[in-house]
Amino acid sequence: MFLAAHKREQILPQPVVLISTKDENEICNIAPWSNITSILRPLDEIVLASWIKRDTLENIRETQEFVVNIPSTNMIEEVMTCSKNYPPQVDEFECSKLKVHASKEIKAPGIEGCLAWAECKLVEEIKREKYSLIIGKVVSLEVNDNFFNEDGDMDYEKAKPLSIMLGNKGMWFTHPVFTGKYNEYSEMFIEQKDKDPNL
Ligand SMILES: Cc1cc2nc3c(=O)[nH]c(=O)nc-3n(C[C@H](O)[C@H](O)[C@H](O)COP(=O)(O)O)c2cc1C
Repeated sequence: MFLAAHKREQILPQPVVLISTKDENEICNIAPWSNITSILRPLDEIVLASWIKRDTLENIRETQEFVVNIPSTNMIEEVMTCSKNYPPQVDEFECSKLKVHASKEIKAPGIEGCLAWAECKLVEEIKREKYSLIIGKVVSLEVNDNFFNEDGDMDYEKAKPLSIMLGNKGMWFTHPVFTGKYNEYSEMFIEQKDKDPNL
């Protein structure tokens, strides 16, 4: 069987994050996002794709900052509330009943109860006809101590970070499970050939 190329999200689980921003008038916006990834570990940049008609994109352009909040599977209802296209003058903390988690380095607030908060500053916007790619630098990465050990490793079974798969009729939510297989990073580097001397 072959699928239409635009259905590629049906073959690949995507992360679900909540992006929180503030506009010039201090009105807060929250929106779920799946087209987001880190740019090559251990660097500190991320990239997300945004349709052009998004309050989130407008706010990032206005204020140059945003928070990537990592929700747990117990926040699906709030995630779907924030996915509704409220007008920009609506404060989405109020309609979702989510609470503010104060940011440390930027003005846009994070969301209380999330598993982690990546405060980001805009580095570059790459404009295409129908969407933009937003590259952000992570200026503060805070995790919720209830779900992480002292080394900074997440307890996935407890945290249940949210992922999504798309089907023909809608979306279904999932979360990662441990396969029982573990490997060291060092197994990848035969001759240290891609080691960056500056890191
Ligand atoms: C799980 C999920 C993932 C989403 N991912 C994206 C995305 O990657 N990019 C995007 O432009 N919209 C995405 N959306 C749609 C926006 O969240 C939705 O249009 C929202 O109303 C935008 O809000 P805003 O206009 O306040 O920014 C996603 C929606 C859901 C439910």
